[in-house]
Order: sequence, then structure tokens, then C-alpha cells
Amino acid sequence: MDTNKKKLTSASGIPYAENENSMTVGPRGPILLQDFILHEKMAHFNRERIPERVVHAKGSGAYGTFTVTHDISKYTRAKVFNTIGKQTKVFLRFSTVGGEKGSADTERDPRGFAVKFYTEDGNWDLVGNNTPVFFVKDPKKFGDFIHTQKRDPYTNCKSATMMWDFWSLNPESLHQVTILMSDRGTPYGYRHMDGFGSHTFSFINDKNERFWVKFHFKTQQGIKNFTDEDAGAMRGKNPDFAQHDLLTHIDNGDFPKWNLKVQVMPEEDARTYHINPFDLTKVWPHGDYPLIDVGVLELNENPDNYFAHVEQAAFAPAHVVDGVGFSPDKMLQGRILSYPDAHRYRLGGNYEQIPVNRCPYLVSNYQRDGLMAVNGNGGSAPNYFPNSFDEIEADQTYKEPAWDLRNQVADWYDRNAEGENDHYTQPGNLYRLMDEKAKQDLITNVVNSMSGIEGPKKDLITNRQLCHWFRADINLGMAIAKGLQLDLQETMKHMPTV
Ligand code: HEM
Repeated sequence: MDTNKKKLTSASGIPYAENENSMTVGPRGPILLQDFILHEKMAHFNRERIPERVVHAKGSGAYGTFTVTHDISKYTRAKVFNTIGKQTKVFLRFSTVGGEKGSADTERDPRGFAVKFYTEDGNWDLVGNNTPVFFVKDPKKFGDFIHTQKRDPYTNCKSATMMWDFWSLNPESLHQVTILMSDRGTPYGYRHMDGFGSHTFSFINDKNERFWVKFHFKTQQGIKNFTDEDAGAMRGKNPDFAQHDLLTHIDNGDFPKWNLKVQVMPEEDARTYHINPFDLTKVWPHGDYPLIDVGVLELNENPDNYFAHVEQAAFAPAHVVDGVGFSPDKMLQGRILSYPDAHRYRLGGNYEQIPVNRCPYLVSNYQRDGLMAVNGNGGSAPNYFPNSFDEIEADQTYKEPAWDLRNQVADWYDRNAEGENDHYTQPGNLYRLMDEKAKQDLITNVVNSMSGIEGPKKDLITNRQLCHWFRADINLGMAIAKGLQLDLQETMKHMPTV
């Protein structure tokens, strides 16, 4: 054998000679059980698939760097932000939401924008979308909503009827639906869109003061979207358009960048602000809370293996670091539970030992054993707390200030009670802010999509949704009704109240 070449081995490192022909009794005889290389190859192949993510299954990812450009230490003591010029390694995974792992990149859908910052205080995951709002405002509704975006249980096809039935029965979704139905629902790959933390989080500074904060990543590449028609054509031409676009730009040294900005609200403002600042279906108008510059995120390294890094990446809104905290946003609270639970199912209990998820700094605790404990498992160190042998202690300087919630009554409160039920002003304002082309595209996209509503409840669902468009903006409602060729007089008579 040429000594420069490597020997072919089994998974256990045993060199072997035959990789193409199974051992048989005579050239045409049956295969012998003792050819264990054949078993190993077939058995490993059978185990190549892991469950795909229940949402956001199709995605692309890359490593990069976050660089601080502005001082925000008066709001947060987070070490990732503590020095201008400081750089932190990141991993970012983009995704579509509703489609399966093999679905097309240019589907009309929100896009995931999940960032893992490998900070010295542990890994911070900011698991957002390319939209600042979401379809629902209580996590109890998430599974029902997602079912309507997936396949019909009988036809196994996507169903406009299910989608519009759900949206029309949940007017809180109108803001996000307006964004989704605009050309922002079909971004031109992942480089030309903004990202948002979407929820309200908190910042805590070194005086232990709390602020409410929203995160915005503004693309330096400029916003660029497909029209509905072009997105449809691209689905047929190159279903992996966004993957290819991201990969080749990074390979060619054309590194995409985003400016990180924050909106900051003093803690007390939340009690009196006219919008519930913890309602994920609402934005904070920039006139009230302007964008503040923080830094630049650059993607500059493609992972050398898709499965190892992108497929096995696990992000969790629960993973915040000192100086960044949660808020009472109900959706965020629900997500704190959901993601680590999903990872334990998809990747196993030791998912944080997988290299892309592993904290490159100190990890010291008493978690041991379980499937795939591959990091040395704590060696001979004690596996219980407290103990008299090691020096590990809980550091009280990481304690965040207490929350003053001023309410002690546990109940199932109506999320859309009086004062929480204006589902129309913000989507209406968004429509009125659009230029003529954007307005027309939105109307066309809505009409195309609502034309797919079918079955015995077609009129009920159509009228109910039309009512929401009218409430957002009378001209928008009229234009959609016209596009759907509805007799307005007749429709008005049957308009249901929600
Ligand atoms: C209560 C509401 C929600 C629940 C229960 C939920 C649940 C999930 C689950 C189970 C996954 C799959 C995780 C995995 O297997 O790795 C996921 C992925 C994801 N979700 Fe959510 N989600 C919710 C709302 C949201 C919201 C509001 C956003 C954005 C603002 C969002 C953004 C994402 C992203 C970006 C991913 C993909 C992460 C990745 O790239 O691996 N989700 N979600």
C-alpha cells in the first residue's frame, strides 16, 4: 500500500480489506453472517436520520463574529457588551418555519434568525425571527397555530382553509399576517433581511437597575424581497436558493453583516405605556423608543459539515447571560420551557456537549451520565452539591433584582380583554406606511392566498377575515374584497362579529 494513503477502517479503527463485495459462500452463494463490516455499514446507515425540528426544520447556518461599536454599559452589565471593540464568536442559524427539512427556501413564511453568542458568561441564545411580532400572544396557542401551517391530516397537503380559519378566529395574528403577506414574507435569501429578538427582554446594569429591551439586527446588505411570482419560480428552479446564496457569499469572502441595535424602556414606563410592552403582537414605535447602536454581527465562516453544526445546533430562549434577562412576555415564558425540552428529544439529554452547542468557557456543575456523555463526564470530581472537596460555589453577584409584579391573583386571564384588544391600529399603520407598489403586492398576495379557502365554511372564513382587513384599513378591506370578486353589499350583511 502507498504509505501516503490512509487505511480504511471500521468505526472502531480496525483496518479491513474489502469494502465493496460481501463475503459469500462461493461467488454466487449466500452472504456469511461473519461479514460484520456489512452489518456495520447497513446499521449505521439506518440510523443516519434524527427527528427534524418540529418547526424551522429547513435552515442554513454559519459562524461569525460580533463586535461592540458603542457603549451601552449604562443599561447592561453583560460582558459581551462591556468594551468597545470587543469581539465574541457567534453561530447563526436561519430557517423557514412551516416546511419540512427538504422544503423550498422561498416559501412564504417568516424566517428564523437564531444567534448563539459564545460569551465568557456562557452561551447566550437570541432565538428570533425576521419579524418584530408574532401570530399569537399566549404559548398555549402555539401548537394549534403551527398545525394550521403544516399539512392537513386528511389531504396531507398545505391548506389555505386551515390557515385563514385560524387567523380569522384569532385577530391578534393580523399584524404578523400583514407582514407575512407583504413581500417581506418572501425575502431574497437570508442576507437581505433584518432580524429581531422580537420579545421584550430585560437588561440589568451594574447598579442592579432593570430596563426592558428589544433587539434589532439591521441588514447592511439592504432589504431585498422576491415578489410572490418570483418566489414561486425560484421554488422550482432552486429550492435551496437561500442555502446556496449564503454559502457562496461567505466562501467568496463577501461576508454578510448586520448592525445590532436596541430599543430600551425604563422599567417603570411599562406600567403606564399605552401599549402592553410584553405583548408579542405589538411593536414599540421608534418615535417613543428610538434605536440605539450597539455593534456589528458578521458571518465569516461556513461550517465544514452541515449535519455536525447546523442540524445539531440547539438554541434556547432560556439561555440568557448575566446582564440580560427575561420579561413577563407570556410567549417568551412558554419558550423558556419548550426549547430545551425539544432538544432533549431531538438530540438527547447531553445535547450541550455537541461541539456547536458546547460553551468554550468554564462549565462546572453536577450533571453526570446519560446517553452520549462524551466530555469526560466530570472525571473523578464530586457529583453532588454541597460537598467538602471542590471549590465550586453559586456566585451571588449573578443574582438579578427581584421582580415587583404587583399582582398575586392566579387565574386564566383573557389575553384579549379590554385594553388588550386593539388588533388593528398597528397593522393598519403598517399598511398606510407602505408605498403604492408594496400596498399592491400585499393586496395581490392576500387575494391569491385567500382564494385558496375552500369547503363548506368558505364564505364564513372569508367574510370573517375580510372584517379584520376592513378594521385595519377601509381601503385595504375594499381592495381585498374587490380582488376576491365579492359583492360588498351582500358580504356586509353576513359579516360576523368575532
Ligand atoms: C410559545 C411559542 C413558541 C414555541 C412553543 C416554539 C417552539 C419551538 C420549537 C419546539 C422549535 C424547535 C427547536 C428544535 O428542535 O431545535 C422552535 C424553533 C424555532 N423557533 Fe420557536 N416557538 C415559539 C415561538 C417562537 C417565536 C415567537 C419565535 C421568534 C420570535 C421563534 C423562533 C424560532 C426559531 C428561529 C427556531 C429555530 C431555531 C434553530 O435555528 O434551531 N419561535 N420553536
